[in-house]
Formats: sequence, C-alpha cells, structure tokens
Amino acid sequence: MTEPVVDVHLAEDHAARALASDARAGLSASPKSLPPKWFYDARGSELFEQITRLPEYYPTRAEREILHARAGEIAATSQAHTLVELGSGSSEKTRLLLDALRDAGTLHQFVPLDVSGSALRDAAAALAEDYPSLLVHGVVGDFTEHLALLPGEAPRVVAFLGGTIGNLLPAERAKFLSSLRDVLEPGEWLLLGTDLVKDAETVRVAYDDSAGVTAEFNKNVLHVLNRELGADFDVDAFDHVALWDAGQEWIEMRLRATRAMRVHVPKLGMTVSFEDGEELRTEISAKFRREGITGELAEAGFELSRWWTDTQNRFGLSLSRAV
Ligand code: SAH
Ligand code: TRP
Repeated sequence: MTEPVVDVHLAEDHAARALASDARAGLSASPKSLPPKWFYDARGSELFEQITRLPEYYPTRAEREILHARAGEIAATSQAHTLVELGSGSSEKTRLLLDALRDAGTLHQFVPLDVSGSALRDAAAALAEDYPSLLVHGVVGDFTEHLALLPGEAPRVVAFLGGTIGNLLPAERAKFLSSLRDVLEPGEWLLLGTDLVKDAETVRVAYDDSAGVTAEFNKNVLHVLNRELGADFDVDAFDHVALWDAGQEWIEMRLRATRAMRVHVPKLGMTVSFEDGEELRTEISAKFRREGITGELAEAGFELSRWWTDTQNRFGLSLSRAV
C-alpha cells in the first residue's frame, strides 16, 4: 500500500490562537455564541460518528441512499481524476464515490480535508489501505480558509457532504461558495449534499435524540474550552437545546445554563457570567429547498447539472459545474 500524505495547514499554535480569539469574541457577545468547528476534537469526531448511526438522525442514511443510486452517474458525468472532500470526517459514504470513480477508470487521487486532525488521519490511513492504487493526500485545514492550497490534477469533483454547508450562516455560505468557485477551473464539479426543509418534529428529534448523544456532542465544546483554555465550565450544569426556527428554516443548537454561574477562562484572562437560563449558541443547521440552493449556486458561478433526492424526499444531492 502507498502511505497517505497528510499536509497540515492548521498548525497547533494557529488552531490554539484561533480558538482563543473565537472564544473571546463569542463569550463576550450578547447573546453568547461559539463557532461550530470547535466541536470536532477527537472525542467530538467520535461522537459525530455515533450521531450518524442514531435512529433519529436520518441525513446520513438518506444521503447514502442517493450516493448508492447515483455514484455511477456522477463518475460517468465528471470523469474526475481527483476527488476532493471538504469536511470529510470518516469519509465512510465517500467510498461509494471512490468505488464508482475507480470502476470508471479515471480516478488518481483523493484529497480529504478536515479541521479534525484525528478524524482525517484515521480516515486517510484506512482508505490508503483499502484503495491501494489511489494516491491519498489528506489536508488538515479549514474549508473557510485553505481552499487555495488544495492539491490534485483536474478535472476535480469537490464533494461537500452531510449537509455541512448548512452549518454556515447565509453570508458565510455565499462567501464559501464563491471562494470555492474561484479555485476551480470552468468545467470542474461541486457535489453538494443539502438537508431539505421538512416537518419540524422530524428535524428536531434528529438534533435531540432520545439516547442523548447529540446533547453530549453539543456539550463537548465546553470540554474543549476547559482543556484548551483552562476554563472551569461545569458541563453538567448546561442543558442541550435544539430549536427549529421556522422563519430562517434552520435548527439552532444552544447550551442553556441551569443556574447562575461564573466561569473562569485563565488563558483569556476572562471571567464569564451566565444568568440562570442564559443560552450559548453553538450551531445552526440550515435546511434547504431546491430553488433556493440552485439560486445560491448560480450566484457563486455554479450551474446546477443534476439534482437528486432520496425516495422519502428528505435530503438533496446536487452536481454542479463551475462556469
Ligand atoms: N462529511 C462527513 C462529516 C460531516 S460532520 C459526513 O457527511 O458524515 C462535519 C465535518 O466537517 C467534521 O468532520 C468536522 O471536523 C468538519 N469541519 C467542520 N468545520 C470545518 C471547517 N471550518 N473546516 C474544515 N472542516 C470542518
Ligand atoms: N453537519 C451536521 C448537521 O448539520 C452536524 C451536526 C449533526 C450537528 N448533529 C449536530 C451539529 C448536533 C451540532 C449539534 O446535520
């Protein structure tokens, strides 16, 4: 087997500074908030993998169903030499694409990119072993910052799966899509997974499961702050909250203080006060409609070429060409 190459564009000191500055800004804001990429330390990535197997969390299964049905068509249409995957995590579903592109005979290289070094290294090692003829070139990086450094020969397909685009705010989403368009040549491809608008209860339980795994995942960000910044959050004193916002069509995750408290954050030289019931916003997960996402793609310079959903119309997968 060929050893996977892993480039690190997020050196530890850079990550530590970025976390400190995000935490300082978010904990001083009103309402308080934290950006979602800090969920994903080794434990957070592991908890997310558990989420993907929960009965209530339909997006992974729905997207896998579409990939299973359409991977051959994606390979035939794109004729990709390189598959790039942003926010790749375990790259489990991506194996369906790798199989199809390998069978089509065009694929040379796989470039997974993730902010979680542990998830990326595990996935790159497993894939290099299972796909011995494939060059696996992982990148530890941030997809909102490091797109210009992506290796790989054209034509490329950039896969962005799992509905992760919905974790960006609308303005961040627009910026992300045009930055991605900027690093592609006309004729290269974006394969985008988007969770679809549906009844509120189905969405709500997907983000507030009965086994409490999502609650643990959400609270993990407080463990990250305790470890990395020396903070003394009493993690058990926070409740997980998932709220559907019907106007924005997104589900919003929060952590609610169950009592008044003061939290010391030595590495920031800060003491943060929470009132009883005060909420810290940790994540949004936007849900999409076909017309909306087609318009956002067009705005960024992508032309929708194919649109597929699962049989229950829960999840959308689009293949778009950079124009
Ligand atoms: N694509 C996988 C994982 C989705 S979870 C799936 O469909 O199941 C979101 C993934 O994106 C995590 O692995 C997380 O570490 C990564 N991630 C989150 N924010 C990121 C960022 N700003 N840059 C790079 N990766 C990010
Ligand atoms: N990309 C995933 C999603 O939006 C991330 C996710 C799943 C998540 N469950 C979560 C983020 C719970 C925060 C809390 O579906």
